[in-house]
Amino acid sequence: MRTHYCGQINSNNIEETVNLCGWVDRRRDHGGVIFLDLRDRSGIVQIVSDPERTPDSYEIAGDIRNEYVLQITGRVSRRPEESLNPKLPTGEIEIYADDIRLLNGLGKQLPFQISTAETEAVREELRLKYRYLDLRRERMTRNLLLRHEVVKAMRRFLEDEENFIEVETPILTRSTPEGARDYLVPSRVHAGEWFALPQSPQLFKQMLMVSGFDRYYQIARCFRDEDLRADRQPEFTQLDMEMSFMSQEEILELNEQLVAYIFQKVKGVELPLPFPRLTYAEAMERYGSDKPDIRFGLELVDVSDLVKDSGFKVFSGAIAAGGIVKVLPIPGGNDAISNVRIKPGGDLFKEASEVGAKGLAYIRVKEKGKIDTIGAIKDNLTDEQKEELLKRTNAQPGHLLLFAADDTNTVNKTLDRLRLVVGEQLGLIDKDKTNLLWVTDFPMFEWNEEEKRLEALHHPFTAPHPDDINDVKTARAQAYDLVFNGYEVGGGSLRIYQRDVQEKVFEAIGLSDEEADNKFGFLLEAFEYGTPPHGGIAYGLDRLVMLLAGEESIRDVIAFPKTQQAKCLLTNAPSEVNKKQLKELHVSSISKPKS
Ligand code: AMO
Repeated sequence: MRTHYCGQINSNNIEETVNLCGWVDRRRDHGGVIFLDLRDRSGIVQIVSDPERTPDSYEIAGDIRNEYVLQITGRVSRRPEESLNPKLPTGEIEIYADDIRLLNGLGKQLPFQISTAETEAVREELRLKYRYLDLRRERMTRNLLLRHEVVKAMRRFLEDEENFIEVETPILTRSTPEGARDYLVPSRVHAGEWFALPQSPQLFKQMLMVSGFDRYYQIARCFRDEDLRADRQPEFTQLDMEMSFMSQEEILELNEQLVAYIFQKVKGVELPLPFPRLTYAEAMERYGSDKPDIRFGLELVDVSDLVKDSGFKVFSGAIAAGGIVKVLPIPGGNDAISNVRIKPGGDLFKEASEVGAKGLAYIRVKEKGKIDTIGAIKDNLTDEQKEELLKRTNAQPGHLLLFAADDTNTVNKTLDRLRLVVGEQLGLIDKDKTNLLWVTDFPMFEWNEEEKRLEALHHPFTAPHPDDINDVKTARAQAYDLVFNGYEVGGGSLRIYQRDVQEKVFEAIGLSDEEADNKFGFLLEAFEYGTPPHGGIAYGLDRLVMLLAGEESIRDVIAFPKTQQAKCLLTNAPSEVNKKQLKELHVSSISKPKS
């Protein structure tokens, strides 16, 4: 039926007769000459029909409407000079349609326009309901093709250059603790028992290392029942990798090459290697974030020691309570940011209070070392303190200094948020820049205030730093994240491979011997049968493709995503099931039927 894809035809095909199949993107009637833009996944090409040169197709061309499905046989010609379109890959040619066959028309009016020429924004709800039509649109087609290219590059590099093999791991499994809620599947055969869908293939890939498949990868579907955001979906895809007999350095180096390979193949961009690195402690200190966007400056400055005895109780009180005081120095902020914006009711105040800040103290830096601020700060700042403050924050006339004083976590969260918002608003972020950054040396644990216990920051299979092994509770982990323009696109670690170390870590997170044995007995046992030192990483494929595509939501790079409310609008999943199905599964529902 078809000899070429629409978007592939160019001046090399002039004089050839081609068969094309596709959808009508647009039809224009120019008084006697009919133009059809025919579209398939590769692009569009211009089809021409007129009574003189193509009498056999002219009548049917007149009846064609947008999105009809056609098969066309025609001759490729060079376009007349005045209608050359250098913006289109097929813009030098057009095709005189000797024959047009209508393969299918439309039975209903389209819910939205699909044409490449259409620029009107369509509501996302409508796009997701008619996702098959949305995916016909140029932007979405481009995104899915890019996703395919990224996966292809991953496979080529890992398989052909680095000797990795792909192994599939189970979808019906036991829960692995990656920190989110599980999706559960009731067992029909074993009444009252449940499978969990994997949050990641973590334990299986470690088992594969025990088996000796020393370089594993998988394009793996993962499931996490967590609050959704633009960069989170309940089911998402990882490029998951695990390697034996490699040091952290070797793992990071191989992964830099992988990422550079992907950029080269899909973007034609040569990334400078090695990627910069920050330790977790440095990242938190300088940016208040473990995934800083370092395409721009605006670094935070800790001034706790300077103001710890200040008569301004907001500062000294925060420090006395075990907290800190940090400053976000904003060059030009004096003019750009008014007091209204940082006081209650203002947009920057709102940003700060959303992450827990109670207020935003400020100092405006004027000419000749003069400052403008609230009385309580001014009255409690000696000349020496003022001088030191301006020096440390590198403040020049025109700077605005924004202060956060609270517990460490709140201070960092507040200034991280403000730094990103202000950086964006002041146009400090160069959108053409690509920044890839390793963040290393994460702590092993963080305190979970709700459950009053330590929680593994990465996951409990991560190996402690050898220098810190004597006290695992405060140890740094041999864990690393890859950050791409402020997004965490990947994370991994060296793993524990000795039973006694694993037991210590389980103990630290409050898992009793019995619970550890019940949940992870197979892992502990495996460590007794010759487990090699190993480590790995997983990339969020959706996030990586989103950033490469320049999109702002991973929904735009997933063929059939869920909404923020974790629903599929195309199929209306999740849905109720009938009583018989529930009974077979030994499950009864406590929620009332909807209808
Ligand atoms: P982690 O939990 O950090 O590590 O996940 C790896 C990467 O997956 C992406 N990601 C997500 N993407 C979309 N939606 C989500 N809900 C979501 N959650 C995570 C992120 C993240 O960096 N087993 C370990 C990896 C390892 O140690 O090898 C793991 O899953 O980009």
